[in-house]
Parts: sequence; C-alpha cells; structure tokens
Amino acid sequence: MPPDRLNINIFEEIDSTNDECKRISIENDLHIIIAEKQTKGKGRLGKKWSSPDTGNIYMSISTEKNLSCVPISLFTGLICKKSIDKTINKKKIGLKWPNDLVLDKKKIGGILVETESFNKKTRTIIGIGINLNLPKKESWWGDLSEFNIADKREILISEIISGFISALDNPDVKWLNEWRKACIHMNQEIEINKDGELLKNISFHDIDDNGCAIIKTKNGYDKFTSGEINIKGIY
Ligand code: BTN
Repeated sequence: MPPDRLNINIFEEIDSTNDECKRISIENDLHIIIAEKQTKGKGRLGKKWSSPDTGNIYMSISTEKNLSCVPISLFTGLICKKSIDKTINKKKIGLKWPNDLVLDKKKIGGILVETESFNKKTRTIIGIGINLNLPKKESWWGDLSEFNIADKREILISEIISGFISALDNPDVKWLNEWRKACIHMNQEIEINKDGELLKNISFHDIDDNGCAIIKTKNGYDKFTSGEINIKGIY
C-alpha cells in the first residue's frame, strides 16, 4: 500500500470514527481512522452501532477526492464483501441493499456514508463496521468467528483500504454485475418503507447504475434511492 497516499490514526477508544473524520484535516488521498472501541458508534437511519468490544473492525475512510464515479455505499459493501471472502478464503458474504454485509442470513457488518463541506471542499466519510467476534452475541447479529480470523484483522483492513485506492485510480471501475451476483434478495419478495408507509407484496427487481433499488409493484416499477428493506427469514 503506498504510504504517501494515506494517513492512518489508530485509537484505543473514540466516540465515533466517522465523527473523528469530521474533525481532522485531510492531507493525503485517504485519511483513515481506526478504533478498538467506540463510545458513540453510529449506524444508518439514526441508529446506534454498538461498539464496546475489541477485536471487531470500526474504521472510517475519509477523502476529499471525487468518488462520484460509483455509488459509494453500494461500492463499499462490495469492496468489504470481496475483502472478507479473500481473507476467509471462501465466497460466503452476501449483500443486502443498500450496504449490509450478510453471512448465513445474519448481518455481520454495515456501512455509514456521510458527506460534509469543508472550506468549499466536499469530504466523503465512509464508516465501516464488521463483526469479527461478538462476545455477547444477540441472535439478530452474526459475526465471522467461525472462520478464526482474529489474527487476520489487519490483513482484512488493508484489503479494504487497497480496494479504495484502486477505486480512486480506476474511475471506470465496473461494479454493477458483481454487486448483482452478491445480492441475496434479487427477485425476492420484500417490504420497504416509503414516506412512513410499509409497502408489502412487492419484489426487489434490480439496481441501477446509481445504486437505486428498482422495486416491482403491482402497478409497475418504483425507484428508491435509500431506505431499508425487510426480507422474510433474514434478520
Ligand atoms: C449500519 O447501520 O449498518 C451502518 C453501521 C456503520 C458502523 C460503523 S463502525 C465505524 C464507523 N463509525 C461509526 O460511528 N459508524 C461506522
């Protein structure tokens, strides 16, 4: 990994690696914050990301480079999926729209993308949480403990960072078909929240180039830029 393109700061404990990315100045292509624990870990849609235990991945990648060539949250999910598969040496990780990492029907990781304006520059902050080993496992959550990769955490982190470096260097990167293949709910019945109303009896048809979900309803097709979907039998 070219060190002149990155800054990495590692913390024993921090409020949230995403929030730290809002406080720093970015000198290189990527500035990465990694923490052993977070006291105010944040999830998508205003939820909390419980992060009291060491041994998991809590990291945020921040950049002021233009990443608009890809829908960053879906693309990050794909980078993480490929990095985990490579580290465990098995193709096991699936993706749930927009960017949940799934193993055997349980969520093992998630991504929170935020953007901020600093001195007329737009900063993208990509927060990644991956459960390697949850000591107090709740039935809803999964982790990667069955693969015994506790000693490969740094390798996994560097795979993810390398994925971002190559994305910066290859703006024409093709991601859509790989994402479709990794998706665990293509053409399946789902539910989705629209303006506070839970839409039922619909199916997940596809995604478009911008990462929007294309949903098939009885009246035709509808597009969603963000949200959360429910799928029967999956957390
Ligand atoms: C989700 O809700 O699925 C997204 C979870 C993102 C959690 C990560 S952990 C590192 C980074 N810092 C945070 O506060 N959140 C993200």
